[in-house]
Amino acid sequence: MDQVVCAAPAKINLTLDILRRRADGYHDLRMVMQSVSLCDTVRVTRCSDGEIRVRCGGSGLPEGPENIAWKAAHAFFHAVGAADAGAVIEIEKRIPVCAGMAGGSADGAAVLRALRQLCRPQLPDAELERIGAAVGSDVPFCVRGGAALAEGRGEILTTLPGLPECEIVICKPEFGISTPELYGRVRTEKLRRHPDTQAMRDALAAGDLPAAAAAVCNVFEEVLAPDERRDIARIEEALRRGGALSAAMTGSGPTVFGLFDRREAAELAARTLRAEYRQTYLARPLGRTE
Ligand code: C5P
Repeated sequence: MDQVVCAAPAKINLTLDILRRRADGYHDLRMVMQSVSLCDTVRVTRCSDGEIRVRCGGSGLPEGPENIAWKAAHAFFHAVGAADAGAVIEIEKRIPVCAGMAGGSADGAAVLRALRQLCRPQLPDAELERIGAAVGSDVPFCVRGGAALAEGRGEILTTLPGLPECEIVICKPEFGISTPELYGRVRTEKLRRHPDTQAMRDALAAGDLPAAAAAVCNVFEEVLAPDERRDIARIEEALRRGGALSAAMTGSGPTVFGLFDRREAAELAARTLRAEYRQTYLARPLGRTE
């Protein structure tokens, strides 16, 4: 076997709390993440010429060492002592880029899973997640998938029961928000509202969608610039008006998601939003990655 094709699911943040800034420039986080069915497709072909080649099919993403998929392959070969191995990585992009949905990390995680299958089938999950942590803060979660509490930089994971069956409308406005810049705006002692992470965990454990929806919260929304806040609030309002149990921004944005218990309402809300925001999708929660 020389080729593996993997789905690379996006994530949403059901909660995102920032606890403190660390001496290494990162922030200690506490967040509940959920994989969703909106995904890229990643095809990895093993080759023996020592080169790592990434093809992103006209998505405009970098195809060299700046791409997280490239970094993941490099880190994998290094970690397993196969520094002269090579791979061709073809990515079919569907997850919006720079969107707070871990699209790059999802591709990186898919590369790690594919390379394990191709080269080191016995490598334990914990080791794959450890390799992922060096590639990016969200990569370990993307390796594991499903739902998890993520702490530390985002790499310390506790698996949680996933969201009960529901529909998720995902809407990305066209503007981008720089993740490091948004982190730079956060003064943790000034944040007025923190998510109730325990309430989210309890809701997931009970399979209680309305309670999970009520506990959705992202502290990054407090530090948005006024024009960003206006656009985000507008999409959230449209989702709630359309029947969402709740709506919030995911990660460092600008993507907004709404949780729906009725499929028809979610479809209608997605159709209405898509007229204005091209990057609007319908998705469902996903379980752990196989
Ligand atoms: O780890 P990753 O490359 O995904 O992080 C991107 C940027 O996000 C970091 O350079 C840092 O500015 C910020 N970040 C942070 N604290 C985290 C995760 C990311 O400050 N826990």
